[in-house]
Amino acid sequence: MTNQDLEKLVDTSNEWILERTGIRERHIADPDMATSDMAVEAAKNCLEARGTTAADVDAIILCTVTPDHFFPSTACLVQDKLGAKHAWGFDLIAACSSFVYGLTTAAHLVGSGSHRKVLVIGADTMSRIIDYTDRATCVLFGDGAGAFLIEPGPEDEPPGFIGFRNVVDGSGGEALKMPAGGSRMPPSHETVDQRLHFVKQDGQAVFKFAVRRMGEISVDLIKGSGLTADDIKLMIPHQANKRIIQACADRIGIPMDRVLVNIDRYGNTTAGTIPIATWEALRDGRLQKGDILLLAAVGAGFTVGANLWRWAY
Ligand code: UT7
Repeated sequence: MTNQDLEKLVDTSNEWILERTGIRERHIADPDMATSDMAVEAAKNCLEARGTTAADVDAIILCTVTPDHFFPSTACLVQDKLGAKHAWGFDLIAACSSFVYGLTTAAHLVGSGSHRKVLVIGADTMSRIIDYTDRATCVLFGDGAGAFLIEPGPEDEPPGFIGFRNVVDGSGGEALKMPAGGSRMPPSHETVDQRLHFVKQDGQAVFKFAVRRMGEISVDLIKGSGLTADDIKLMIPHQANKRIIQACADRIGIPMDRVLVNIDRYGNTTAGTIPIATWEALRDGRLQKGDILLLAAVGAGFTVGANLWRWAY
């Protein structure tokens, strides 16, 4: 869906969207496709790239705010469709920070020695909860999925997981939410009539928080790990707004040629942004074995997360 397509739906312009967000187009899933379908495709590609099979997976962490259903969890649906017979799993809801939180969790499952292969999938079908009459939100989001497989590295190599800083500021809950559909406001004719099953956002509040906190925790993580910004080969931030990414990179001290930006082609795919961008970095040769990678995200909650990884293959 291009900016020109959106010009036909709401009072907006390609120029406004490009200048304020950096987005040119986003992908929209076919009507018969749900989050688990995209998640399965991403997982299959990931397992194939690692030369392993679903039967070897020990756990699936499915990061999403757009599950197929409240229950069963999308992790269960994906476990079945993939044929990951030996895997347990669960859905992780932390909005745009979900994937970073999922990676942090997987790193600890594998680091403890109790798990050998943990699939972390970021998948969101945002088009199902976006109000295409609200120009303030509908231009921002797209659908997409990606996956990482977290495994123990060789004993004689430095650890792949360097560290994390994950933070919640629950006082920001009102700034970005889908008001209805849960136990606070169950679905009713009124909630549908009032369009309360769609994303509502105070864009400026989210923008200010994102720039400040994503920058702060990234700096704290880099310093706390005994590193400097110069050690970061590539920063892969959550793709919500190109201006947020530029402001954060500036605060951390990482030049834009070491920051991956692909928001122009996908928009904000929520849990999908970081794995999709990482896949592009690999495909384009921007990520090599041994490179130090900073992943950073901010999302509804507010949730904020940063991870440092040493790329292992
Ligand atoms: O992953 C976390 C999820 N969300 C985010 O990270 C979003 C963070 N926020 C943002 O990215 C930005 O705040 C937005 C892109 C949402 C908005 O950009 P902004 O520069 O903060 O614009 P604004 O909300 O201050 O609005 C400026 C003007 C307003 O008009 P007036 O009051 O100045 O006449 C809006 O009504 O732009 C208007 N506007 C639009 N105009 C054309 C808002 N949306 C649109 C639109 N097209 N789509």
